[in-house]
Amino acid sequence: MNRHDLALIGFGGVNRALAEIIHTRGDELAAELGFTLRVVAITDLRLGSLMQSDGIDLGVVLRMGAGATFAGFAGGVAVPQNDYVIRSTTADIVVEATFTNPVDGEPAVSHVRAALESGRSVTTTNKGPVALAGAALNRIAADHGVRFEYEGSVMSGTPALRFASEMLPGTRISAVQGILNGTSNYVLGQMETGRTLADAVAEAQALGYAEADPTADIEGSDVQLKVVILANEILGADITTADVERRGISGLTAADLAEAAAGGTRWKLIGTARRDEEGRVIATVEPVALPLTHPLAGISGPTNAVSFDTDLLGTVTVSGPGAGRIETAYALLSDIIAIDAHQRAVAGATR
Ligand code: HSE
Repeated sequence: MNRHDLALIGFGGVNRALAEIIHTRGDELAAELGFTLRVVAITDLRLGSLMQSDGIDLGVVLRMGAGATFAGFAGGVAVPQNDYVIRSTTADIVVEATFTNPVDGEPAVSHVRAALESGRSVTTTNKGPVALAGAALNRIAADHGVRFEYEGSVMSGTPALRFASEMLPGTRISAVQGILNGTSNYVLGQMETGRTLADAVAEAQALGYAEADPTADIEGSDVQLKVVILANEILGADITTADVERRGISGLTAADLAEAAAGGTRWKLIGTARRDEEGRVIATVEPVALPLTHPLAGISGPTNAVSFDTDLLGTVTVSGPGAGRIETAYALLSDIIAIDAHQRAVAGATR
């Protein structure tokens, strides 16, 4: 049976959840998918680095206590040697799940570049490298005959990018519009019930939806990165965050929300990328008072949704989780499945 060896860069919630899925469901997945998965390297700021080309015992790693490091393991050290591990691992797929840096995407951009240049495919849930260096990284992947996959950079494991590319062939997509941040949507819902913005944000942090710095959720910069990704990936644009006009929800008051409800509308933080008549892509992030009949108006809590405006099918909307460790780890699994399918297709074509 085919096998993929993985190097996990970052071992926080998301990659840990992927390790749990492989550990508890590996045999079931192999029977369904026709390949097995092994983790042969892990690097993490707190744990250090571990490389075992015969496969790491995930049960042991997942049981490590607080404050433990990889120093006592064969092939382990207490310091995270990300670049060394990425370039020398025996893995064929590098799984990048470090924090999102919205300014320059580092260190994730360097991690992805090093992996692709050394002939490994990459899956990431990290918005930074995709939004800020996606075109360059895709070129490096193509030059090296490997894949760069990032389904989880928008709407976690809910298919958005692959839904558009694989489920809507033959129709033209002219616009993409969505509720792309669970925290702000949750906060708006809580404010509708009379809670303050500060209380609702604190709760979203406790529930694990919010970014490390929740300003990114509330002021729209998280959605801005996702709109860049959607515009470039689905509308074939070549925009950066500076091209996306942005306004968050901090200016909305409880009175605004009540007034909207009385008038049959509901405020939502909406990310949009639209091709105008001249073919230019216009992208925005802003609060919009939607009529209750709008497909995005009923999306509540931390749920995300994205609508695609198409010429042959009208508007198609996909909704589902946009955050969460298992949900985001599922995006990585779906990318690994896509990488495997691509490799099989190439092998089949060259036989
Ligand atoms: N903080 C983000 C959200 C997580 O609330 O949607 C996923 O990008």
